[in-house]
Amino acid sequence: MAFPVHRLRRLRRTEGIRRMVRETMLSVDDLVMPLFVSAGADTRQEMKDMTGSFLLSGSPLVEEAKLIHDLGVPAVLLFGVPQKETKDAVATGSYADDGPVPRAIRLLKEARPSLLVIADVCLCEYTDHGHCGLTADEEIHNDRTLEILERAAVTYARAGADVIAPSGMMDGMTQAIRTALDGNGFEQTLVMPYSAKFASQLYGPFKRVTSSAPEQSRHATHQMDTANRAQALMEVSMDIEEGADIVIVKPAGSSLDIIRDIKNKFDIPIAAYQVSGETEMVRAAGDRGLIDVERVMMESLTCIKRAGATIIITYFAKDVARMLQ
Ligand code: PBG
Ligand code: ZN
Repeated sequence: MAFPVHRLRRLRRTEGIRRMVRETMLSVDDLVMPLFVSAGADTRQEMKDMTGSFLLSGSPLVEEAKLIHDLGVPAVLLFGVPQKETKDAVATGSYADDGPVPRAIRLLKEARPSLLVIADVCLCEYTDHGHCGLTADEEIHNDRTLEILERAAVTYARAGADVIAPSGMMDGMTQAIRTALDGNGFEQTLVMPYSAKFASQLYGPFKRVTSSAPEQSRHATHQMDTANRAQALMEVSMDIEEGADIVIVKPAGSSLDIIRDIKNKFDIPIAAYQVSGETEMVRAAGDRGLIDVERVMMESLTCIKRAGATIIITYFAKDVARMLQ
């Protein structure tokens, strides 16, 4: 049957009808808020390259996390921003028990046991050269890097992290971390790898605020080539076999096809990461008066969910939670 019997505009005529037939519902339950943590005492320092994000530690960190949790956001994702002096070639600081991330985890789990704490695990914040792994002969050495990632993961699990999220795209990192966690009595700690992480320029603001950009990027040797779709499915399939509980895809907005492919092919929860460059582009266009930031924010997140995401990691989480109230 077709027009004039069928008129799809009937389904759009009033807000009541639009509400009733809406297929995708954004919920505060879907959201994860990334937080940047330092090792110092009681820090709350605005980061100008990432609107609305602060470098946090101590009681300001606890206050911010409580606020986010009280708005209904179930989880935070922690990134460590260590002092420059603690960085070295072998990322010793990444598994230091008094590093920014273990300290933050302990504080948050003590203040709010029910807030899910996810710890990003990569070495770029902790190496003096800024690469995501240990280097040998001008290359990032995969298997030696795994040993450090295992130590960092166990340190964060011991501090109380609920979820370990390795972001370095090393081969075998999911299996290495799962095995290390199990071997140390942390079989209940989840592993949520960045399975399909593309070598994207959209991480720019993040690299600036975390001072983790190497002089010469070698990200293309571990992060995925943007041109590849089948390979993303291979990455996900391997991570599922290696023990991933949830898989991360990023940048979310430029990976909607990948998210849908995974959704159609596997039954694992998918976390889509709307990265720093994506949110800052929206903010920048808003500053120029070209778009309405709040509406573009809701639109972008609805599209990510429509593509098949179960979870959305976004710097907009706090703002969205406020709007959904
Ligand atoms: C690695 C990591 C990065 C991001 C998340 N985890 C940077 C990178 O891979 O170069 C980027 C997140 C963002 O841009 O919001 N520690
Ligand atoms: Zn890295």
